[in-house]
Amino acid sequence: MSQSSAAYPSSAPVGVDTTRASIARVYDAALNGKDNYEVDREVLAQVRTVAPQVNDLAWANRDFLIRACRFLAKSGIDQFLDLGSGLPTAENTHQVVQRVNPQSRVVYVDNDPSVLVHGQALLASNSRTKIAEADIFRPLDVLGNATIRNDIDFSRPLAMFQIGTLHHYLGDDAAALMQTYIDALPSGSFVAIAHFFDPQIPEYSELAAKMEEKFIHSPMGSGRFRARDEIQAMFGDLEMVEPGLVRCDDWWPDGPHLTPLNAVRNCIVGGIGRKR
Ligand SMILES: C[S@@+](CC[C@H](N)C(=O)[O-])C[C@H]1O[C@@H](n2cnc3c(N)ncnc32)[C@H](O)[C@@H]1O
Repeated sequence: MSQSSAAYPSSAPVGVDTTRASIARVYDAALNGKDNYEVDREVLAQVRTVAPQVNDLAWANRDFLIRACRFLAKSGIDQFLDLGSGLPTAENTHQVVQRVNPQSRVVYVDNDPSVLVHGQALLASNSRTKIAEADIFRPLDVLGNATIRNDIDFSRPLAMFQIGTLHHYLGDDAAALMQTYIDALPSGSFVAIAHFFDPQIPEYSELAAKMEEKFIHSPMGSGRFRARDEIQAMFGDLEMVEPGLVRCDDWWPDGPHLTPLNAVRNCIVGGIGRKR
């Protein structure tokens, strides 16, 4: 047995480094998925020391994504560019939107080898759904990507997702990055964003700062909790769909909250903007 094969469990797909935490696998672990390793679970264990309910960040984010998919598909959008798709889980974007409209096209974009391997396997038999490899924080690369240009028609309205992604961008120019995407969208398109949030009130700000510190200094290396103004700026001058940028759990929930939202659930927001 070679040294490299000894270091990797046989269940790890080729190209997947099980010695470094990955954003996609940490998120999968938070959603109780099976495609993660000890190094990924350790990131959550570290954050859990300051935020015992850290998994709720992932659940609030994912449930927002599912409701956003339903809303957009029912609004007549039939092409979806899902930036930072994550590992396949229950209720993936293409499954939700193609249930509403089987003709919907979806292109997932990610740069994590685990996501690309699992995504390609899942999508092998779905001709209307593709996965493209690109760095979502390089908009011009994404906008010029051949798979994306082939499957998404930029002359017709589309939905673009940055759900659970931009807090992993550590630069200070996330609004400018998003503006490049927004400029490329035709009128009538939508942009959905969910982002870790610093509510800037003493009750939750301290928690947000502690979680950020743990995430950024963990082997995953990212997870910024930005203030409302910074997140709102990522929508540029898009017209916000009601109820605007709110806690993910408050964006058209499926029913009343049966218990008050815990502190962690106050630290993630989401919204959808429409290009006029
Ligand atoms: C937290 S997951 C969110 C998954 C999904 N959007 C959701 O909300 O359920 C973030 C995803 O973004 C991907 N990602 C992070 N940085 C990226 C980059 N620079 N380029 C492409 N994908 C990236 C990760 O690999 C991961 O799959």
